[in-house]
Amino acid sequence: MDIIRMDERHLEAAYELTQRLKWPHRREDWRQALALGEGVAAVDNGKLLGTTLFWRWGDYATLGLVIVADEARGKGLGKQLMQTAIAELAGHQLRLHATEMGKGLYEKLGFVATGCVVQHQSRELTPGERIAPLASQRLRLARHEELEELSALESRAHGLRRPELIASLYDSAERFLVLEERGEVAGFAALRRFGHGFAIGPIVCRDLPQAQVLVSELLSGLEGEFVRIDTDSESGLGDWLTTLGMVQVDAPVTMYKGATWQPQGIRAFGLMSQAMA
Ligand SMILES: CC(C)(COP(=O)(O)OP(=O)(O)OC[C@H]1O[C@@H](n2cnc3c(N)ncnc32)[C@H](O)[C@@H]1OP(=O)(O)O)[C@@H](O)C(=O)NCCC(=O)NCCS
Repeated sequence: MDIIRMDERHLEAAYELTQRLKWPHRREDWRQALALGEGVAAVDNGKLLGTTLFWRWGDYATLGLVIVADEARGKGLGKQLMQTAIAELAGHQLRLHATEMGKGLYEKLGFVATGCVVQHQSRELTPGERIAPLASQRLRLARHEELEELSALESRAHGLRRPELIASLYDSAERFLVLEERGEVAGFAALRRFGHGFAIGPIVCRDLPQAQVLVSELLSGLEGEFVRIDTDSESGLGDWLTTLGMVQVDAPVTMYKGATWQPQGIRAFGLMSQAMA
């Protein structure tokens, strides 16, 4: 069994691993995740037995899609994959979101739980009461020339500096909205195709009412569709999403190895994904 760098050739087998787990990732979601980051793979005689992906976002890095095929579990493979990724990421502060199954492994590797993320989804979004912008606010599409500014803005929320991700969303998202408050950029949110339907995230702005305005606009037109949002359990967004019929289905644990981040006047009300954070 070898631990090697993951590349495009592993994507089909990696997709099958998530299918077996009933995780929602499409082939395109895997491709995007690997294109924006790096991965290590456990391979035995050409067969993919495990994966770990990671993303270097400035001082911080996130890890995810940590999977070992069920027939190969309990033999130290998950630990080896994680140790290889952690060694690659020397010098970074590390963050991940752990499933119930992964938490024990990460604790053994020195990760500490700091909170949790809640996943809200609706299989068929129903029409509901949405929140319109205030007179002082304006919603508009993101512009290419401000992507750097948006990347700097979101890094104040969570410490992750990821201009490549913002540029990728600008190119591929269904809608990428900016919220202006009195003519100044106050936040943004993106809607993209993911998994069984659509995902909204990242959602980055100052406060909950701003997040509700951004999400309300992105939800309009999605009635009848599958929609998912991952948000910090403390953000307050989850309770509101429940009132819109987007129920909580999952609550992975946020874990850090290294320094945590204190938001600087801006917060992440929605994650890009549990893996990329
Ligand atoms: C989580 C997962 C990757 C672990 O892989 P694995 O190869 O079975 O784990 P390992 O055999 O390397 O275990 C390493 C250590 O973690 C411990 N560990 C693993 N799973 C654990 C669990 N659920 N609870 C407590 N400890 C656990 C093992 O006891 C072992 O400890 P040791 O080093 O002291 O012997 C695997 O169970 C999996 O793919 N689960 C489904 C997908 C998933 O939930 N992934 C996590 C995403 S965040």
